[in-house]
Order: sequence, then structure tokens, then C-alpha cells
Amino acid sequence: WNRNMMKDEAKKKVITYGTFDLFHQGHYNLLKNAKALGDYLIVGVTTEHFDEARGKVNVVDSIMERIDNVRKTGFAEIIIEDHDGQKIEDIQKYGVDIFTVGSDWIGTFDYLNSFCKVVYLDRTPGVSSTILRASKHNIVRLGIVGTGRMAPRFISEAKYVSGITIDCAYNPVKESADRFTDRENIACYTDKYEDMLMNVDAVYIASPNETHYDYTKKAILAGKHVLSEKPISFTRNESEELYKLAKDNSVVLMEAVKAAYCPGFQQLINIAKSGKIGHIVDVEASFTRLADPESRERKDVQYGGAFLEFGPSVLVPVIKLMGEDYEGVSFDSVYDDKGVDIYTKADVRYKNGFATVKTGVGVKTEGQLVVSGTKGYIIAQSPWWLMKQFDVRYEEASKVEHYELRFQGDGLRYEIGDFISKINGTDKKDYKLTAEESVLMSEFIELFMKEKERKKYLKVRD
Ligand code: CTP
Repeated sequence: WNRNMMKDEAKKKVITYGTFDLFHQGHYNLLKNAKALGDYLIVGVTTEHFDEARGKVNVVDSIMERIDNVRKTGFAEIIIEDHDGQKIEDIQKYGVDIFTVGSDWIGTFDYLNSFCKVVYLDRTPGVSSTILRASKHNIVRLGIVGTGRMAPRFISEAKYVSGITIDCAYNPVKESADRFTDRENIACYTDKYEDMLMNVDAVYIASPNETHYDYTKKAILAGKHVLSEKPISFTRNESEELYKLAKDNSVVLMEAVKAAYCPGFQQLINIAKSGKIGHIVDVEASFTRLADPESRERKDVQYGGAFLEFGPSVLVPVIKLMGEDYEGVSFDSVYDDKGVDIYTKADVRYKNGFATVKTGVGVKTEGQLVVSGTKGYIIAQSPWWLMKQFDVRYEEASKVEHYELRFQGDGLRYEIGDFISKINGTDKKDYKLTAEESVLMSEFIELFMKEKERKKYLKVRD
């Protein structure tokens, strides 16, 4: 077909692009009218990744279904749109005469006028994929537990995810709740968590670490979906219990380890596992932030500190790449004079390799992720947890394969998008961070906390 299309100079070629999710009358009319502008219609259907990069994170139909629906109209030949700048490329490659799109885009594509004619077709009123998605799935009403640093970030990123409204927040401390209500313009419950639960479908838990388990459990028992900040609990048993409860109550439970949900992260994992760097032998992951001395992570001797703050994030690549069958783990920490671990290193041993993770709230390291194998290594520079790029490197220093990845905002939107897809049942399988992986992270947290109890505190010198 491509050959025919390129050869046939006499024919007038029209091109249009779109997602065509939940194919509807508006799409049909647009394609029909587009075809009528010429002899040939080419339709560029967007890939999931491209849509995600444009901020459309809740597309329901798979690309195969969307292509199929466009094809069935009989109006068009189909190509795939997967990157910015492709429209100009296609117009030149296929010798396109007319670019067209619905009137909701008026002005946006005027820049294509220097390559072909641009026509904006009237949009069919009253129908859109967005409306259909909303009617197919109820909008998820979400309540936020805890109004600290994470809550405003969550609210601003949730704006990029369709199908969610943030209705309220909960903070038992009245002054914090009031401040939040003023700032974010969201109603805040102060005394009864149960009252808030009655008015939402789901909660995001961003309260202090030691409260995650309790809030999560109560929400699940009330039949609410839960996205809980890490760590979801401090012990293996508690996390296991929570995932079982969630299953029994048919609700979604997700641990909010942002790194795991960033689009590029899974790609790094898959490339590492593809054999490109041989057998994986070592994983090093470091995540440190010089936290405010007044912050909870610097002041709370029992539940603050580096490992509880960043342990789950650095453990995700280790568990994903080295597996769940570890042989042993040892911890080393530097404590401040209060007894807060300002720097913790964990060594995990496996049958055929090992891993080292470093976390800090009062020590700064190079925050990188390095995966070493028998044929080469992968390096993701700081901040790898917002995976924007990585390199695959080999013995020969000049041979570098560089990957640039799509990443929007501060990355929370991907985690939120996945949470909503899971609630709506449109997400396929739980592979990004499974219940088992999350439970294992709690096991590491448990071992660390036991170790901390046992060890004498080391004083760090200024
Ligand atoms: N379109 C149209 N009339 C509608 C809806 C869409 O003419 N009622 C056109 C769009 O202008 C675009 C094409 O159909 O040219 C594909 O649009 P797409 O973004 O896939 O559909 P929408 O329904 O607009 O999707 P969303 O709600 O996700 O933006």
C-alpha cells in the first residue's frame, strides 16, 4: 500500500491524526468528511506512548482496537503516529495535499500551511471520547489523607489524569487542615476519618509513615481503593494482610513508589533483562536528599530517617532486576546524635550477584542507578527515579546507546493514571509493582528496623 500511495501522484491525498478511543459518531463524521476532501485518506493513529506523552493517560481501547475501528469505516489507510514532528515528515514522505483535523484544533496546525493545505472540519457536537470515558466509568472521587508536602503535588498532577476529582482531605491537626483548605480550596475533614471515607471512592495516603498501615486498613474495610505512600507498612505480615484484605474486598491497593510507574523505568528494566548487557550481576541504586533539619525525616527518631524515606524507591530496581529470592541483606547506617539514620546503605546478596542501595537525608551522594552485567552496563544518571534518560555502555568506551524517554511534569501523573486505570479495570496486569514486590519491600524495612534497634548509634562527625 505504501508503494501505491507514494506512486500515485495524480491523486489528491488527505491526512488526519487522532486517538480514536471508544470510536464514536464524531470520529466517523470526521473521517467521512476528510475523505471527501480528496481521493486518498491517510489516518495516523496515535500509540499509547505518544498519547501518554501528550498527557492523555487514560485511553481505554488498545491501539489494535483503535486501528480496527478506523479501518472498518472503509475510508482510510492507516499509519501510526508515535513522535513529535512526525506530521511534517509524513506530509513530505507521502506527498500529502491536505492536512485536516476537527475544529477543536483551530489554529494549532497552521504551521503545516507551509507544507500543504490545512483544513479544519466542523466537529460533531455533543460527543467525544472524554464524555464516553466518563460515562463508561464513574469519576473516581478521591480523598487525601495528610496535607503535608506530597498533597499539593498530588493535586496539581492529578489534573492531568482524566476520571478523577479530588474532593477532600483529612488531617487530624486542625491548624494544618485549615491552612490546607485555604491554600488548595478543598474541604478538609479534621476529626473523623470515617466521615471522609463515606464521601469518597478512593484515598491517597500521604500521612506520616507510622500511620499508613492503619489508614490503609480502615479504608479497605470501608470498601475504598487505596494508593498509599511508601512504606505501606513496616512489616511483611502487615503488608501481606493489607493486600489480602484488598483482594477480599475487591478494591485496588497500590504502593506509591513513583519510580516504578514512570514510563522509562519499565523500559530500562526490560532492556536490562533482554540480555543486552549479558547476565545481570550487580545493581547499585542511590537516592539521597539533604532534608530540612526541621522535617519529619530528620527529626523523627523512630519513623524518620533515610531508609524509611527512600528505601522503597531504591529497592524497586533491585527487586525487579535481581528477583525476590535473595540470600541475605545487611545494613550499615550513620546516625545523627538523636539516633536518626541520616545515611543508610544496604547490601543484598543473591545466588549469582548482589546489589547495593544507598539512601540519605543528611548525606549527599551521586544519585544514580547502575546495572552491571557480563557484557556491559546500564547507567541512569540522577535523578533516575524520574527516569528521563539512560545509557547502555560496553567495554569499548565509544560505544554508547543513549535512550531519551518521555516524562511529563514531576511524574506523579503516571502513578495516578495507573491507579485510576486499575480502579476502572482497564489496566491489564499488575506488572509495574506487584503485591509480592511491595510485600518484599516491607520485609526489608522490617529487617532494617530490627537492625536499627540492635545496633549502637554511630555519631557522625561534623
Ligand atoms: N472529532 C470530531 N467530533 C467530535 C470528536 C472528535 O470531529 N465530536 C475529531 C477530532 O477533532 C479529531 C478526530 O475526531 O480530528 C480524532 O479525535 P480524538 O482526539 O481521537 O477524539 P475526541 O473525542 O476529541 O477525544 P478526546 O475527548 O480524548 O479529546
